[in-house]
Amino acid sequence: MDLSKKVRLRVGTNKIKFTMKILIMGPPGAGKGTIAEMLQKDLGVMHLSSGDILREAVKENNPLGLEAKAYMEKGVLVPDSIIIKLMKEKLNEDNFVLDGFPRNLAQVKQLEDEDIKVDAVLNLKVSEKTIVSRISGRRICTKCGKIYHLQNMSPKKDAICDNCGNKLYQREDDKPDTIKERLKTYKEQTEELIKYYSDKGILNNIDADGNKEAIYAKITGLQWIKKRKSKLRARS
Ligand code: AP5
Repeated sequence: MDLSKKVRLRVGTNKIKFTMKILIMGPPGAGKGTIAEMLQKDLGVMHLSSGDILREAVKENNPLGLEAKAYMEKGVLVPDSIIIKLMKEKLNEDNFVLDGFPRNLAQVKQLEDEDIKVDAVLNLKVSEKTIVSRISGRRICTKCGKIYHLQNMSPKKDAICDNCGNKLYQREDDKPDTIKERLKTYKEQTEELIKYYSDKGILNNIDADGNKEAIYAKITGLQWIKKRKSKLRARS
C-alpha cells in the first residue's frame, strides 16, 4: 500500500504543510516507548506518551494524576475524562508519535472530534513470552525517562542512567499480577482499534519480537516513512 497518500496536506500562507502524526500501538511491554524514542531522535517528531504524562501528573501531585493513580496501580484504564484532559493540550503539534493514546473507541472519537487524524498506525506484534521478559527486566530513569532493560539494554553503570546520571527505577505496575490485568485490559478494550485503523487503510503490522534496530529498520523501510523522511530532510 502506498501510504504516502495518507500524508495530509494543508495549505497555509502560500506554504504546503505536511504532517507526520504517527500512532504506535501494541500490548504492554511491546516496545512502544522504545521505538517512539528512536522515531523522536531520528525524525525530530515529538513523543507523546499517555503513560508518561500520567506518571508525571502523579509525581507532581496534580489532582488528575492523583485520581488516575489507583487505576494505574490496578492495571486498568484511567477514566476517559482524565486522560483526555491531560492529552488535549499536548496535541497541537503537526508532527508527533502518539504512544498509548487513544486506547479505546471513545478516545478515538474524542481525538477525531478535535479534528486530529493520525496519518499512520504502527502496530507492534509480540509474543506473550517476549512481553513478560521485556516488562520484568524494564528499568526507567527517574529524571529523563530513558528506558532500559536489565539484559537487553543495560546502562553502562549499574542502575544509573547513561544520559543524565540519575537513578533507575522499576515501575509500580510492572508486578506480575498488574501485568496480567494490563494484558487483559489491552485485549478487551484496546485491541479493537487495530480493526478500526485497518479499515481506514492506515495500519502497518510490525513483527516486533526481534532487537530494536531490526524493528526500527522495518519501520523506516515503510514507503510512507521513507517519503516523509526525505521531505523532512529536503526542508532542513
Ligand atoms: P503505559 O505507560 O502506556 O503502559 P503500556 O501500554 O502497558 O506499555 P508499556 O509502557 O508497559 O510498554 P511499551 O510498549 O512502551 O514498552 P517499552 O518500550 O517500555 O500505560 C500505563 C498505564 O497508564 C495503563 O495501564 C493505564 O492505567 C494508564 N493509561 C495510559 N494511557 C491511557 C489511556 N489512553 N487511557 C486510559 N488509561 C491510560 O519496552 C519494555 C521493555 O522492553 C523495556 O525494558 C525495553 O528496554 C525493552 N525492549 C523494548 N524493545 C525491545 C527489543 N526490541 N528488544 C529487547 N528489549 C526491548
